[in-house]
Amino acid sequence: MVNRSDIENFWTRGDVHSRVHQAMSDAGLNNKKLEVEDLFPIDQYHARGIAATIDLGKRMPISENQRIIDIGCGLGGPARYFAKKFKCLITGIDITPSFIEIGNKFNNLTSMSKQVSLQIGNGESLDFENEAFDGGYSQHVTMNIKNRKEFFLEAYRVLKKGTFFAFSEHGLGPEGNPIFPLPWADTSKMSFLLSPESTISLLEEVGFYDIQIVETSKKYISGYEKMINTKSKKDTTILGIHVIGGSTMKQRSINSMRSIKEKRTLPFEIVCKK
Ligand SMILES: C[S@@+](CC[C@H](N)C(=O)[O-])C[C@H]1O[C@@H](n2cnc3c(N)ncnc32)[C@H](O)[C@@H]1O
Repeated sequence: MVNRSDIENFWTRGDVHSRVHQAMSDAGLNNKKLEVEDLFPIDQYHARGIAATIDLGKRMPISENQRIIDIGCGLGGPARYFAKKFKCLITGIDITPSFIEIGNKFNNLTSMSKQVSLQIGNGESLDFENEAFDGGYSQHVTMNIKNRKEFFLEAYRVLKKGTFFAFSEHGLGPEGNPIFPLPWADTSKMSFLLSPESTISLLEEVGFYDIQIVETSKKYISGYEKMINTKSKKDTTILGIHVIGGSTMKQRSINSMRSIKEKRTLPFEIVCKK
């Protein structure tokens, strides 16, 4: 059983506040008015960074002023990007309190607090009324969700009828046995991968329909290669995923890339309707 402090420790890897403060200061960005784009190198906490967020955004039918939920919002980078792009309102929830604190500071720095609000929460038990949102998404979160049916049921419950749910994740590949440690888990204790087929069956059971899946292995392999090679040539990037993920991020990324290449894992995006 994984408890809350194991989860916080896993995601924050020590004093994430100080690491972010130092990196922002080194990059000359502390206490300055910023654009949403200035934070992309540090606030998109998933493989392929902003490129993956842009891809997911292209598949989400969001209109101006709609109210959207981001389940497992991390530091709120994707939420700020979508809120600015679609002129919508985003409520993000995440189980890691430090990410919410840093994310809300980033909202202030980028003048996005009116459009994006982040709060602590658990995707398996959402603190919102039924049918509160006009759409929802979850980027690279579900790998950590043991009770996936409950997670999907909760997403379904808080969405209005006729709206969408989109998510991206690393699913279980045909060979199984991913190589740990990985970006989302140091051991199998925190990793709960499902095959694309099982994921689709669960979504159908919950009531989602028109389930569209796109496999993204090639994109992730080349994204990881780019990141790993850039960092090994020059270890001086000030803002990057390593600020949040700490010193083991590179090895965990290499393991993730190998796991995809060896078909142990299989990344995909899904967009479906309620
Ligand atoms: C790889 S990060 C992705 C963050 C963000 N979606 C992004 O793309 O930048 C995974 C996030 O899932 C969050 N998470 C894990 N389990 C969760 C749960 N049960 N409920 C809410 N958030 C969760 C973690 O705290 C972490 O911020």
